[in-house]
Formats: sequence, structure tokens, C-alpha cells
Amino acid sequence: MARRSFAAKRVLLTGASSGIGWYLASELVRAGAFVVVTSRRADRLQQLRLAFGNPRKRLLAVPGDLACPAHRQTLIDTAVEQLGGIDIVINNAGVGAIGKFEEASADRLRQIFEVDFFAATELTRLALPFLEAGREPAVCTVSSVLGHRAVPGKSEYCAAKFALRGWAEALRVELHPKGIDVINISPSTTKSEFFDSLVASPPSTAIKSYGVQSAEYVAHRILGAIRKRKRDLILSPGGNALVWLSRLAPGLTDQLLLRFAA
Ligand SMILES: NC(=O)c1ccc[n+]([C@@H]2O[C@H](COP(=O)([O-])OP(=O)(O)OC[C@H]3O[C@@H](n4cnc5c(N)ncnc54)[C@H](OP(=O)(O)O)[C@@H]3O)[C@@H](O)[C@H]2O)c1
Repeated sequence: MARRSFAAKRVLLTGASSGIGWYLASELVRAGAFVVVTSRRADRLQQLRLAFGNPRKRLLAVPGDLACPAHRQTLIDTAVEQLGGIDIVINNAGVGAIGKFEEASADRLRQIFEVDFFAATELTRLALPFLEAGREPAVCTVSSVLGHRAVPGKSEYCAAKFALRGWAEALRVELHPKGIDVINISPSTTKSEFFDSLVASPPSTAIKSYGVQSAEYVAHRILGAIRKRKRDLILSPGGNALVWLSRLAPGLTDQLLLRFAA
């Protein structure tokens, strides 16, 4: 299979106001794509639009809350009306939380699932008829290495990312006959604003991310995976080590997490 090109592709990208999504948008525009971006912070999307001069109106910003069904429909309508269709959907927006499950409210679980799982899956559902008619169509989900191996203190986030990966796995086979690729990406800790916007987490846990991977690097790898039509990509050696250790020795992994991560 030839590598996918982003030139003149019509891309719907969520979570573009910071972190990984910001760099995904920048690199996509540089690669010649037309991109509809969204997030709640309109001022950030405006900055993004101005950041690279927006050549030939390649970036359309549609601010709003992805948890809202009407906003998801607006995104689809904008892409179809302004760009004439949709070739690629990148479900990148996400939120997390830190803290024990037993100490959290039901609302925290619901908020995380609304953004990380339902927004991604329902936006994709709306996009499917257009993807089917698209050029080299693809759906990309930005999950997490914690969608392969769960860790204590992040149960809601892990559950949402497991769900997202499971859904993507089923969809990949369902959509294969239609020629739509489904690519699941599992980053490890990434320097971004993720830990500044944790949902209902104690302030002491709202730590900054000092992960080894930059958001720009992660974005570049994600676009590389879409180009190369990868299925499922774990981005860091540490993430791969955790996943393989957990597959080969799940009990030992539990013990190590109990000792070092609980
Ligand atoms: N950072 C990490 O360590 C890490 C590790 C593994 C996986 N990931 C995943 O990578 C993806 C990108 O995260 P990031 O690290 O780049 O974090 P980030 O800088 O916090 O970016 C998250 C993006 O999601 C948007 N978003 C959140 N809730 C939204 C909502 N209700 N409606 C619309 N947009 C919403 C945010 O925009 P607004 O706040 O403006 O709405 C922001 O643009 C997420 O799916 C995350 O789970 C991150």
C-alpha cells in the first residue's frame, strides 16, 4: 500500500488548542491539508490560525464543547459545506483525572467518558458517510499506553482509553471493506497542558508533566502512523516495555505497580 499523503486532504481534528493537537494542526497545514479544528478555547484556536498565516484558508476553527451533540454536528456540517467532504478524522481531544476511584464522584467517570470515548465515537459515526466517499479515508484515535495496561490512581481515564481502543479494533475490521483505515495511537507521558486540566482531581495531584516526549514529537509520530497506514502504535520504549511485561507477567506487573505507582 502506498503511503498516504496529506496534500489537499480534508481533515477533522479535535483538541487543537494545546499540546499534541496544536502540533498536529500545524504539521497538517504545512503538509498541504485543509483542517477543521475544534476545542473549547476559542482564543487559542484563533492564535493557532494566526500562528502560521493560514495560507489559502487551510485552517477553519470551530470552537465548542465536544461533549455536546449539536457541536459535533456543527463540525461535520462545517467540513462538508466549507471543504466539500471529510477524508480523515483525528480524535485527539481528551481529559484525565488522578485519584482513587472510591474517593471520586460518579460525575468524574462520566465527564471523562463523555470526552475521551463518546465524543470520539459519535463524531466518527457522523463522519462515516463522508469518509466512505472520501479520498484515502482514515479514522485516527489518540488513546494512551494506559489503554493497554491500566494503572492505579487513573481508573476512569484507563477505562475510557481501553474502551476507545476496543472500539477502534472492532471498527478497523468493520470498515476494512470500505477502504477506511482505523489507526490507534498510544502515547506515553507527553509534555502538554494535560495535567493542568485534570477533572475533579485533588490540587496536590495537578502536577505538571515532565514526560520525555514532546507534544511536537508525538504529533509527528501520529501523522507518520497515518501516512504509513499503521494499525496500533505504542509510541515510547517505556510504554512498550510496560505493555509487554503486563502481557507476559500480569501478576508481577501488579506487584510492581503496587510498589511504585499506587
Ligand atoms: N499528555 C499525556 O501525557 C498523554 C499521554 C497519553 C495520551 N494522551 C492523550 O493525548 C491527547 C491530547 O492530549 P494532550 O497531552 O495534548 O493534552 P492537552 O494539551 O490538555 O490537550 C487536550 C485537548 O483536548 C481539548 N478538549 C478537552 N476537553 C474538551 C471538550 N470537552 N471539548 C472540546 N475539546 C476538548 C483541549 O481543548 P480545550 O481545553 O480548549 O477544550 C485540548 O485542546 C488526549 O486524548 C490525551 O488523553 C496524553
